[in-house]
Amino acid sequence: MRACRVGLVGAGGVAQRHARVLSGFEDVALVGVTDVARDAAAALAEAYGGRAFADVDGLLAAGVDAVYVCVPPFAHGPVEEAVIAAGVPMFVEKPVALDLETAERIAGLVERRGLLTGVGHHWRYLHMVDQARQLLAGRPVRMVNGAWLDKVPPVAWWARRDSSGGPVVEQAAHVLDLVRLLAGEVTEVTAYGDGTPPPVPDADIDSVTAATLRFASGAVGTLAAACVLGWKHRAGLEILADGLALSLAEDGLTVCDGAGERHLPADPDGARVAVDRAFVDAVRGVGDDVRVRYAEALRTHRLALAVAESARTGRPVALPTGPAARLTAAVADAAPAEPAGVALDA
Ligand SMILES: NC(=O)c1ccc[n+]([C@@H]2O[C@H](COP(=O)([O-])OP(=O)(O)OC[C@H]3O[C@@H](n4cnc5c(N)ncnc54)[C@H](O)[C@@H]3O)[C@@H](O)[C@H]2O)c1
Repeated sequence: MRACRVGLVGAGGVAQRHARVLSGFEDVALVGVTDVARDAAAALAEAYGGRAFADVDGLLAAGVDAVYVCVPPFAHGPVEEAVIAAGVPMFVEKPVALDLETAERIAGLVERRGLLTGVGHHWRYLHMVDQARQLLAGRPVRMVNGAWLDKVPPVAWWARRDSSGGPVVEQAAHVLDLVRLLAGEVTEVTAYGDGTPPPVPDADIDSVTAATLRFASGAVGTLAAACVLGWKHRAGLEILADGLALSLAEDGLTVCDGAGERHLPADPDGARVAVDRAFVDAVRGVGDDVRVRYAEALRTHRLALAVAESARTGRPVALPTGPAARLTAAVADAAPAEPAGVALDA
């Protein structure tokens, strides 16, 4: 069996996690890693195998079957363009970009090339999400309340709006992705930020954001994001349907209905392995369980950016629906159908 040759771009926290998971797969060979911080690339190659490359072109020239793009939000764009030009399947960490223009440009290139992609919304691999979908089958969602209440993560770029996009785009995107999966598309958002940065150096993001969401189905919802705590307080969402209340958090699903309350534990580490396993299987052509491709992540990114824009301007922001929600009109006209595979669209 020929190993699947994987390269990484970015050697920080999330790249180390992927390298650890991938190096545990018998059918994967880590070719190497490149990072603008050469020491970081060298350290990751030393720890998990492969070589440190000076740049993306060097990594691609070494011959890879897939590339993991694990750079901060501000660095997306040129990396993906190089990988797409080489025709190599790519896994991109969320958020897929800082802005919408970059994400739509990359989505268009991916579509034109018919390239296999995956995005790091690994929550979709939590078994409890499947359980929630089963419980909600035939029961319209009436209300969704999402929250990500946390600290400022210890990476230098995080507290700057022009580097991370802010907490909703950078962090609460995981929750917004599940909101879309379980309750359908959002058509309009109104959000407020407190206009006060968290107490870390050079911060210019809001400490807290509160948003209201209107769904195409008629459901309504909220999103709360905060980065003023010294710990991760809560990340998840509550869903109300007729006679049913679901509470999803990283540690599990709590179900309340007429029969009482029960808790179904989750396995977040398992989901982090499953997202890589599914992508590698798809690259090898032996599986089709990539649950969030680039085009799907673009929809979640668009929603997160709408919340951020509304908080910045103080005005409601409408989201495109129908075919326009896939890509920009210009790209959608030129693009062929999405590549085959299972996308768990809501
Ligand atoms: N899916 C998840 O659960 C999850 C978890 C953690 C982080 N992330 C996401 O992964 C991304 C990276 O987060 P992180 O914690 O690894 O950040 P990090 O700062 O620890 O690492 C990012 C690395 O990218 C490198 N880099 C920056 N620009 C580059 C470029 N142009 N080319 C090559 N390397 C470049 C940096 O030098 C750094 O080593 C973020 O968008 C974050 O949201 C996702």
